[in-house]
Amino acid sequence: MSETPRAVYIDGRLHPPEEATISVLDHGLLYGDGVFEGIRIYARRPFRLDAHLARLEASAHAIALLVPLDRAGLATAVRDTVRANRQADGYIRMVLTRGDGSLGLDPLSCHHPRLIIIVAEVSVYPPDHYVDGIRVITAATRQVPMASVDARIKSLNYLKNVLARLEAHEAGAAEALMLNHEGFVAECTADNVFVLSGGRLLTPPASEGALDGITRGVVRELAERAGLAFEERRLARYDLFVADECFLTGTGAEIVPVIALDGRTIGAGTPGPVTQRLAAELRELASREGEPLF
Ligand SMILES: Cc1ncc(COP(=O)(O)O)c(C=O)c1O
Repeated sequence: MSETPRAVYIDGRLHPPEEATISVLDHGLLYGDGVFEGIRIYARRPFRLDAHLARLEASAHAIALLVPLDRAGLATAVRDTVRANRQADGYIRMVLTRGDGSLGLDPLSCHHPRLIIIVAEVSVYPPDHYVDGIRVITAATRQVPMASVDARIKSLNYLKNVLARLEAHEAGAAEALMLNHEGFVAECTADNVFVLSGGRLLTPPASEGALDGITRGVVRELAERAGLAFEERRLARYDLFVADECFLTGTGAEIVPVIALDGRTIGAGTPGPVTQRLAAELRELASREGEPLF
């Protein structure tokens, strides 16, 4: 595994990291005008690559941003970059920006979308978070209303998430729960939220302000395979307080147990058996799905 990337893809070419530079006039930098994906590599296999590429395309389409390659071209670019980095277990960051334009925000001044692919080590929660579970606080910073930016768009605008994460750090918590403008549960700063309640797995629908997470979708598959009821439902903080189990899902986090919200213990105050079983099944699935790239 490499500490820093060996090769970074920018617009069709692989560059050594020290030469992987872009213009200061890129509207991704100036205005957060762009979309991105984070994809895990397990045992030389990018996990659920096609689902991530489909979400990237949908995010781009929703902001009227042209994807410079078709699905097969995107997949080839990702695979070539992973191979060039010889990263067996790691993380792929795909960034698609509006590209270079004028200093003003007008997107019409940008004529060439810019595609960047970075392959690196994955930064994960410390192992004790998975063994002991994490404590979460509710952030004062809220999810933006769907009428402003639809939460299904995985855009480069993460300032609200950054501010919520700062709140978590200040409170000594590992993550922050973000509510939507109505005060219902949306998601955490980089993860979706699940509760197990009365034998049912519940998670807020995207319309509550949640990203339609790829890991969330895998949990749905695993639950259905195990005969566990899965339901998208509006959740309040109350539902987390009184849940039997609670966990977060994300590409980086995988499945991480939550044992307390705002100082109230959830369930037994330890990672629950269903959470632990799903976490183990996710890792097992990820380690064997797909063909190794090198
Ligand atoms: C805001 C937000 N919600 C949820 C997720 C989880 O989504 P996924 O499972 O696709 O990584 C992420 C991770 O990228 C995220 O940034």
